Amino acid sequence: MIVFFENKVVLITGASRGIGRAVALAFAREGAQLVLAARSAPRLDQVETEARTLGSQVLSVPTDVTSESDVAALVEAATRRFGRIDVLVNNAGIGKVGEIESEEFPDKVHQTLQASLFGMISVTRHVLPVFRQQGSGAIVNMSSVMGRKAFSRFGSYAIVMHAVSAFSDSLRQEVKGGGIGVSVIYPALTATDLLRDAEADEMPPPFRHMTPLTPEGVARAVVSAVRHGKRRVVLPRMANMLLLGEAFSPRIGDFIASALAQRPVTTFLGMSRGQTYHETLASRRST
Ligand SMILES: NC(=O)c1ccc[n+]([C@@H]2O[C@H](COP(=O)([O-])OP(=O)(O)OC[C@H]3O[C@@H](n4cnc5c(N)ncnc54)[C@H](OP(=O)(O)O)[C@@H]3O)[C@@H](O)[C@H]2O)c1
Repeated sequence: MIVFFENKVVLITGASRGIGRAVALAFAREGAQLVLAARSAPRLDQVETEARTLGSQVLSVPTDVTSESDVAALVEAATRRFGRIDVLVNNAGIGKVGEIESEEFPDKVHQTLQASLFGMISVTRHVLPVFRQQGSGAIVNMSSVMGRKAFSRFGSYAIVMHAVSAFSDSLRQEVKGGGIGVSVIYPALTATDLLRDAEADEMPPPFRHMTPLTPEGVARAVVSAVRHGKRRVVLPRMANMLLLGEAFSPRIGDFIASALAQRPVTTFLGMSRGQTYHETLASRRST
């Protein structure tokens, strides 16, 4: 059997839990060697152990992507250990819920920009010289459906996810011809700890009844995006209806966003097939 990612070196930020952990394990199953980055060393150790069990060689580097020196040390350690980097998955990030008129809103925008956008820019700029020298590489940037259509109460996150989308769009065109591919993943609500600090009734209205995606499902999409050189992946595909409506007219986009806040609508569209986000987190905690 030809294993596409056999011995390829995949660097994943935000690999200590959630989508990043699932991406790491998905690439480990494909035979890749891994460089795992996040701030929490103990949680990175756990993911490293899981990936090694799957047969992967793993280097974990505790890293805060908002620190230039941490990011420089991460890329240096990766190339020293493996001699190359084939895939960069820019996944580290945070998300905060709250209205634009709330006192904390500017701070939330600032914090999210630092972790989710400037971190991504920094890691990308440190990895690009390695890709340029190799004449090859693949970059996967994690955005969100919010990176193409914002919901109320999620402005700080949506601002940054739109910026991730624009950054990726510019980057893809700038590296064209250099053997470097850029994919952007736009998942809808996913069952991770990203929004665990928000109460159920504080959530953006369309999320209240929705059944979240699984991190493993998003991870499969990441692997497939690299394998097939996809520029854009929206998850679930049904979310394209929202984006199409929004592209046609913001009135239609807003109408679809309001409709998604109604349980009968999400049920009809197959988006309320199981537990809600908070029910999923609660049942995970109780097992
Ligand atoms: N969950 C969703 O609904 C959803 C939907 C669409 C897109 N996304 C995107 O998916 C990505 C992963 O999020 P998730 O849902 O898996 O959330 P998560 O479970 O909260 O994981 C976030 C990851 O990012 C790391 N991280 C945060 N700040 C960091 C920093 N300054 N430096 C290094 N690592 C940092 C965290 O590790 P440490 O705390 O150990 O640093 C953790 O590994 C994010 O970019 C998010 O915007 C999530």
